[in-house]
Amino acid sequence: MLLPPEPDALLRVAASEPAPEEDSAVHDRMDALVRELERHNRLYHTLDAPEISDEAYDAMFAELTALERQYPQFRSPHSPTLRVGGGLLPGLKTQAHRTRMYGLEDVFNMDEWHDFAQRMIRAVPETPMVFWCDPKLDGLALELVYENGLLVSAITRGNGEEGEVVLEQARTIRTIPLHLAGEGPFPELLEVRGEVVMYKEHFAEANAMREALGQKLFANPRNAAAGCLRQLDVQAARRMPLTFLAYSMGAAVWGSCPPRTSHADLMHYFETCGFATPPGGKICHGLGEVESYVESVRAGREGYAMQIDGAVAKVNDLAAQQALGFTARSPRFAVAFKFPAEQAMTILQAIEVQVGRTGVLTPVAKLVPVSVGGVTVSSATLHNEDEVRAKDVRIGDTVVVQRAGDVIPEIVRVCMEKRPPSAVPWVFPDTCPACGEHVHREQGQSAWICDNISCPAVRLRSIIHFVSSAGLDIQGIGSQWIEQLVQSGRVKTPADLFTLTEKELLGYERMGKQLASNFVQALETAREEATLARFLSGLGIHHVGEQAARLLAQHFHTMDAIVQASCEELTVLPGVGPKMAESIVSFFAGHANREMLEKFRSLGLWPEEKENDAAEDSNSPLQGRRFLFTGTLSIPRGEAQRMAEKAGAVIVSSVSKKLDYLVAGDKPGSKLDKARSLGIEVLDEQAFMAMLEEQKEK
Ligand code: IVH
Repeated sequence: MLLPPEPDALLRVAASEPAPEEDSAVHDRMDALVRELERHNRLYHTLDAPEISDEAYDAMFAELTALERQYPQFRSPHSPTLRVGGGLLPGLKTQAHRTRMYGLEDVFNMDEWHDFAQRMIRAVPETPMVFWCDPKLDGLALELVYENGLLVSAITRGNGEEGEVVLEQARTIRTIPLHLAGEGPFPELLEVRGEVVMYKEHFAEANAMREALGQKLFANPRNAAAGCLRQLDVQAARRMPLTFLAYSMGAAVWGSCPPRTSHADLMHYFETCGFATPPGGKICHGLGEVESYVESVRAGREGYAMQIDGAVAKVNDLAAQQALGFTARSPRFAVAFKFPAEQAMTILQAIEVQVGRTGVLTPVAKLVPVSVGGVTVSSATLHNEDEVRAKDVRIGDTVVVQRAGDVIPEIVRVCMEKRPPSAVPWVFPDTCPACGEHVHREQGQSAWICDNISCPAVRLRSIIHFVSSAGLDIQGIGSQWIEQLVQSGRVKTPADLFTLTEKELLGYERMGKQLASNFVQALETAREEATLARFLSGLGIHHVGEQAARLLAQHFHTMDAIVQASCEELTVLPGVGPKMAESIVSFFAGHANREMLEKFRSLGLWPEEKENDAAEDSNSPLQGRRFLFTGTLSIPRGEAQRMAEKAGAVIVSSVSKKLDYLVAGDKPGSKLDKARSLGIEVLDEQAFMAMLEEQKEK
């Protein structure tokens, strides 16, 4: 595309008010610059084939910026200068997807693949088994909404039905076109779905930068991509090198554009629109070709620029995709071949002991950094003393480390044949590495514990826990800030956070006015919105997780009632055993904890659970009953669980004798067999719904 000739008027822009005809020339020039910059962006970032030098690009960019400053009325909302972002966003809003964003069914071997394919063949016998195959990217799924070619929304997958709006952050990703490339016409509506990933090489750079800034390192590129995309600070998001790769479509209204008829055609169209697509995507004819493709991706896994965890096969014909449709969880026309965890060998240099929020000491192996599937691993958890003994891990050993998805790397085994003769068994320290106090290990327990309530490590971890999603879920208060606040002695308990003022926050290194104000605002919002269950779970009482906290909140309704409850009163609740009850009572008896709770109360952070009629009704057939959901239901499982919880049920995750009901959907798997063998009552979805109805009528 050629730029319109530079109008003379432009050379005189600063001189005087431009005449109307000059206006239109300026406007044209600005439009042309916007389009041209977008094209070069794409050539550079997506196609890896720049046509002009960086300097020429910068000059064009500077010209547009200057014109926009002078003629703000002509600034396009889709200008690439907007990619530079503007400060902090107030918070992430959620938005419903027009059509649900499904996950994929996983297969782990070729037998499972054949079963999956047989079901497809039975459902659409006349459709040729032709597939579009590509690698499965391990990033963050994102939907981009284009109306008449312009990017109008970007929504994360979220729970599939609704996700977080990250339009401003998405605009900072240079492989996301702000408007579709080409001359049009464009579809009236096109939802482009794909994955936001961070290339392995960029991941290493991003972590090096975080290390230099004293920030917590990202565990893997997936977390890095998710963390960057969801962060509220658009400026910070801009510094993170993220890439978007398009692989499927949501809703589309093609208007005057020819609709796409195959997945391959759709991928090609995406490319002409300016998107990058997953590397090495191709058509495969028949099941055998799919298998060879999957094997070639598996063999070349290390060589991909981004982290991948499998391969995906999708029926190529879009009409057949539509005919096959979806189960409650995933499409019937696409499947993911999942690869197992990746392993590598390295040397264990040291064993460090870390102190958790409950004072539990965890040994951590420090390793000579090694790439495990493209991610550099330099430490791995050893869980506890028994684990170190069982694996006989010694300093100096050569070990096999493994990473599976998001899981923290672990040591699989020691290579005994490589053990240096000088290696001696490791001995657990008898003092806490953070405070120097003696540590103890109770009989029958695997963990060593530091009991010192003023241990700085325990304090830090418990405050981080309070702020995290397991507690009040306070957005924008990173652990590096908590670390600074604890180190300075200003914050000793989570309650102290709520007394911080903007003014004193400004005294901390790297704290700006905007950040301080957001910080205080986030705490205020958290204070106002805290629920009893979240507050309780945030306190980090030993054995009281999120589920137990919900149960306690539903039963006791107020903090005062919980604080005063005796072991007998607590163990009345199904789901609260003597160990948990004891731990709750002893937490509230502790002097330091009482002081902290008084502070919370005086700050007005003393939540009450709204009384829920259904949950209150102890005659309800669901009240306090343990439910487990398995298999595919006609509604998302999370929704069914929420309905049950609202009616007073307790949701558990494994089958045991204590389970009251197993609700089994389609393809229930081994949980159903186990429940039957234990004589547990099994409900189908209809029976479960009937039970809920029955309760409502009461
Ligand atoms: S196609 C109807 N292709 O993996 C769903 N998905 O475990 C069509 N994913 O969140 C999706 N790489 O978003 C497709 N090459 C690829 C993919 C891919 C990663 C994501 C997908 C989903 C998750 C499922």
